[in-house]
Amino acid sequence: MIVSTKILFEHAYGKYALGAYNINNAEQTMGLFQGAIDSQAPFIIQISKGARKYTNKLMLEDIIRAADTIFPDALFAVHLDHGDEETAHECIDSGFYSSVMIDASHDPFEENVAITRRVSDHAHSKGISVEAELGMLGGVEEDIKIDEKNALLTDPEEAKEFIAQSGADCLACAIGTSHGAYKFSGGQGLHFDRIRAIQAAIPGVPLVMHGSSSVPQDEVARINAAGGKLKEGAKGVDPEQYLPAAKLGVCKVNIDTDGRLVWTRVHREFFRDHPEEFDFRPPGKIFIAEYAKFIASRNRYLGSEGQLAGATEHAKKALAAAK
Ligand code: G3H
Ligand code: 13P
Ligand code: ZN
Repeated sequence: MIVSTKILFEHAYGKYALGAYNINNAEQTMGLFQGAIDSQAPFIIQISKGARKYTNKLMLEDIIRAADTIFPDALFAVHLDHGDEETAHECIDSGFYSSVMIDASHDPFEENVAITRRVSDHAHSKGISVEAELGMLGGVEEDIKIDEKNALLTDPEEAKEFIAQSGADCLACAIGTSHGAYKFSGGQGLHFDRIRAIQAAIPGVPLVMHGSSSVPQDEVARINAAGGKLKEGAKGVDPEQYLPAAKLGVCKVNIDTDGRLVWTRVHREFFRDHPEEFDFRPPGKIFIAEYAKFIASRNRYLGSEGQLAGATEHAKKALAAAK
């Protein structure tokens, strides 16, 4: 069942975090739903601008509708990841998305506020919630590269002003993470003091953690042993830190890169071991099963494992009350 992001946040807030997983195709979608059901977890599907362009945005929407039918017990929201203003308005008007992210974090503060305000006003008129970003994560974000030295942590006082002026419902913060497989060299750690300070400045406002992949080194080693040339030693977030962050108000944890590593490992190993093979379905089947296992493992760290029944009950009550 597709529900609003707000309903999922209400149930998770301060207790656990929802995994927000990016999808691009049918195999990823099948693995995601299977893993969510196996771990009995509610979740968020994220669609990036790149994912909307990859095949066709309508294809992705119908893949999700089909998955909803195939897995009738699944409970999830559909979210635009790193939207620009034009895409955010388009997704709001589509009637399909539960929430949108407007990412104007690279613009000056006042400009970020003004753009986010326009998107919030439009989204709220349609009952959709808005995620905005303040601060700068390191790494690669869409096509913008920010040097790790310039990665700015979110300022709590600015966060307070930003939420009051922009109308955003939840805030993506820079708290020590970075996007992509090439995270800060030597690993990255979450700045728990900063999370506490931001949440104290905007109590009750759900926080979002981007760049949350862990970039498992055994996965990178297997990819490289099967012909890959990924840089080794660039570690991401320790998944053991997801739940402590969730208890401090981080409700949504964005994970994309780690799923891509599962895909790359499965396909590189498959074609290394079966060089005579050209049917993509056998590795596709392995990928769906491996991705499902991966999703279930992340949901365990996030604390969303086993929350499906409670979240579904909460959603049903909230929907009945809204009638
Ligand atoms: O933060 C970005 C997400 O990992 C989506 O990546 O823009 O390549 O689809 P993408
Ligand atoms: P990773 O690159 O760490 O998976 O982060 C994904 C993300 O933040 C999507 O918005
Ligand atoms: Zn992100």
